[in-house]
Amino acid sequence: MVDVYRSSSASADETATSCLEAFGHLVEELGPTRIAATIMEPVQGEGGFVVPPASFVQEVSRYCRARHILLIADEIQTGFYRTGRRFGIEHFDVTPDLMTVAKSLADGLPLGAVIGRSDLMDAVPPGGLGSTYGGNPVACAAALKVIELLEREDYGARARAIGARVLERFRSWQAAYALIGDVRGLGAMVAMELVTDRHTKAPAAEATSALIAQALRSGLVLVKAGAYKNVVRFLGPLSITDDELESGLKILERALATVSADNGSKTAKVTGSAVSP
Ligand SMILES: Cc1ncc(COP(=O)(O)O)c(C=O)c1O
Repeated sequence: MVDVYRSSSASADETATSCLEAFGHLVEELGPTRIAATIMEPVQGEGGFVVPPASFVQEVSRYCRARHILLIADEIQTGFYRTGRRFGIEHFDVTPDLMTVAKSLADGLPLGAVIGRSDLMDAVPPGGLGSTYGGNPVACAAALKVIELLEREDYGARARAIGARVLERFRSWQAAYALIGDVRGLGAMVAMELVTDRHTKAPAAEATSALIAQALRSGLVLVKAGAYKNVVRFLGPLSITDDELESGLKILERALATVSADNGSKTAKVTGSAVSP
């Protein structure tokens, strides 16, 4: 995981370099000719909205291309303007060979798709890519309408505006509550990572569970994420109104104040705490 916050390297660039080295060793160990493809989420979803340095994504792309390893962008969470651009990978100036999409594609109706270079897609014979519900006409009709609306109503701009507001609020809470070790995001994918101590960055998994339970009591549903189950993500729909967003943020803020007080860590007085750009 290219996790700049948890990396022992001094900077994002150094983190990218050490992760690339590790990736290269893995590929060499397995043998590049035995690897058909590398699959990467432009921003890790369940991993806790971890945004990789652009240099890492670009170098992985170059590295794979030089060894005839396909690059697949898993856009299932990042696709369809969630990051502020149509696909998350566009932020990194990389063109993948294939992309997987689902979730936002049909706004909740069950549909997934593979998009890719025509020579790869056309290499599959008719019937070669099947699934029980593949090509469901109702889900496909919903997807066509979703795509039309996303573009016509400029949901990219909406995602960027929502993301800026959530990021600003999360950062203001980070200044007030020592429990929040990191705040990060891309477009409307914004998350905060909870820690028991900002220096050791020990994951605050229990406080995260308490925060989620507290928010739920007031009607706000949150889901834990991250390798250590200590990340709270903003996962609202891009069609959320400003008022709905504000009421959700207020519930989360109250829950955070309660849990921080229970943990005896109300005020952030830690020096040298890291805040991602
Ligand atoms: C990034 C990512 N990839 C793949 C999947 C699996 O998607 P599906 O259930 O549509 O096969 C998920 C599901 O949450 C996901 O978040």
